[in-house]
Amino acid sequence: MADITYDASNRCWILQLEASTYCIGLSEDASSLQHIYWGPRIASVVASEMAQPLGPLMVPFESPTGISREEYVPWGEMRFSEPSLKVEYADGTRSIEWVLDEHGVERSGAGQTLWLRFRDRAYPLTVTLYYRIYDDHDVIERWVRLENTGGSGPVTIEQALSADWRLPRRERYRLTYLYGQHVKETQVAEVVLGPGKVVLESRRGATSHQFNPWVALDPEASATQESGEVWSAALAWSGSWKIVVETTPYGDVHCTGGVNDFDFRYRLDEGARLKLPAFVGLYSNKGFGGVSRCWHAYEREQVLPEAPDVVRPLLYNSWEATAFAVNERNQMVLAEKAAELGVEVFVVDDGWFGARNDEYTGLGDWTVNPEKFPHGLNPLIARVNSLGMRFGLWVEPEMVNPDSDLYRAHPDWVYHFRHRSRTQGRNQLVLNLAREDVRVWMLTTLDTLLSEHKIEFVKWDMNRHFSEPGWPDEADRNPERVWLDHVRNLYGIIDELRLRHPRVAFESCAGGGGRVDLGILSRVEQMWPSDNTDALDRLRIQEGFSYAYAPRVMMCWVTDCPNFVTKRTVPLRYRFHVAMAGSLGIGGDLSRWTPQELEEACGFIATYKRVRSTIQNGLLYRLRSPRAGSVAASQYLARDGSEVVVFAWGHSQQFGETQLPLLLRGLEEEAYYRDVISGITYSGTYLAQKGLSINLAGDFDSHMVHLVRQASAR
Ligand code: GLA
Repeated sequence: MADITYDASNRCWILQLEASTYCIGLSEDASSLQHIYWGPRIASVVASEMAQPLGPLMVPFESPTGISREEYVPWGEMRFSEPSLKVEYADGTRSIEWVLDEHGVERSGAGQTLWLRFRDRAYPLTVTLYYRIYDDHDVIERWVRLENTGGSGPVTIEQALSADWRLPRRERYRLTYLYGQHVKETQVAEVVLGPGKVVLESRRGATSHQFNPWVALDPEASATQESGEVWSAALAWSGSWKIVVETTPYGDVHCTGGVNDFDFRYRLDEGARLKLPAFVGLYSNKGFGGVSRCWHAYEREQVLPEAPDVVRPLLYNSWEATAFAVNERNQMVLAEKAAELGVEVFVVDDGWFGARNDEYTGLGDWTVNPEKFPHGLNPLIARVNSLGMRFGLWVEPEMVNPDSDLYRAHPDWVYHFRHRSRTQGRNQLVLNLAREDVRVWMLTTLDTLLSEHKIEFVKWDMNRHFSEPGWPDEADRNPERVWLDHVRNLYGIIDELRLRHPRVAFESCAGGGGRVDLGILSRVEQMWPSDNTDALDRLRIQEGFSYAYAPRVMMCWVTDCPNFVTKRTVPLRYRFHVAMAGSLGIGGDLSRWTPQELEEACGFIATYKRVRSTIQNGLLYRLRSPRAGSVAASQYLARDGSEVVVFAWGHSQQFGETQLPLLLRGLEEEAYYRDVISGITYSGTYLAQKGLSINLAGDFDSHMVHLVRQASAR
């Protein structure tokens, strides 16, 4: 049970989580909140003992406060490392001196929230720090609310991060993070930290393909996939963000993050409040696998908008098959083929609207193209429904092509600076969604689209990042607030659409995996990790993705060969086995698949449907990394332990290379497991100690094993 207690005599708060403990303490004068402990679960009396002050640290050229381990760092005094909060008051004062005003714990649902409200000693600013924890989880959601309580004019916020995570003092930390680019997202990177800062960030207005707002830290690079202590943190924010991992010259490591302060200024008027996004942290002593499983469980149970045990339907998407040339006829043909395969949601991608025949035209004109769909979308939707499938549609609402009716009518609706070029990305500009008229237009347009059609799935795309993020009409009214308000309005629109159209599921896409984060995940059912659907490249993309995000939200399509990105050709079996590692979809041109290919696909799809609850919602064990050699492997264990699915993917056999058995994880030693295909029964101990021998041969060989726990021995 999650539990938060306040120990008044030691002035500390103790957060007891599933398998970890977190403790913070207040300085004598109530002016500084100190980090005390974060690690394996310990008794509360021990946490209190740790909270007893040892006397201030004295270091020349430093103040005790400046080098203390503060939970949230208000800039001022002799503080020289990365602060959490920096403001300017109306009279020009630019530092904060605060004191704790009030604190409390709120209990709701399966969680508890500790809040601590600090107020500036002289100015009308309050800063409330929040810590939310949940029963059965080790995550701590931290966020902050700022309020200008009035009387001294506006407060200008120059930097406002969400939390500062302090790591235990250890010899040296390794930082693991996810980087990439378009069609090469979520690659795993590692660096051993020395004194200084590592800054991971997006200045792009969106989460970005380049860095994902997730980190993991383990001391002395000692953690493996299944053992060792790891601290991890992830931001719930889909705009420009920043995570700073700083090692001070005195060996203190802290990790602070939130909305990026680059080009940022936010004017908090009298009476106004600002809630900052959550920076979520967790601790596990079960290695990177343990950390991932904690993230996955948290996402399923606390973040996603649908129930934890729902399975995602099998999806078809038209993009790689028909690109912009979608029309009623070719989509009907694809829909019929898809239905024969057992597809459950049929999605028409880009090209269905306006004059959208290529990348140059039509974005912004969200009316059905009459040449491609002479009778509108409804006949196609009816056909899709009569084939037993739901209908889905692609949109990219935040964008406009200069060659569009929308842009011709509202050239001032895009971000721009006076006397500056309007830089195009993929021949499009970004709508200024901070504007109220744009917000209302977007909500109304999408609401109408969803009201006039039986659409049950929306793929929400975003295919470029911000440039010239200006708003000339608001030049003297804090136009830099667009960095926040764009994302807040985006969230607001999706939330409102979900409320008005509860049947609709959403997918987050941004030119592939450019908007993959916990913020968007609380309002979409799934995310598109990458436009790269090449099965071999996907192994690495999916591996990195799985460090932070659950298999169920990871959409994976089987597409045609040669792959349109890499030009690589791999067997259909291998493509299926790679795509079956998450939420399976089909993205090939089914009208060109041979009867043999369609039959083979039917077999894989039937198998996938039998095991998908284990894959999508089970416990993931990464048995072998695609970065480590020619064979990669993953295991999924049903949460009740009753089923196991193992995939092994080999990309190229090197003659004489030893293929070691795959030692399975998390099984009951005493139980017996039957291989559904071979009929062989193994004990849990056998599978854990001797392991499964899977000999892959040649190029792009792959194998799936499905084991079912037996009710009684053999
Ligand atoms: C982006 C998406 C693709 C596809 C195209 C359509 O690149 O990531 O999946 O929807 O846009 O233009």
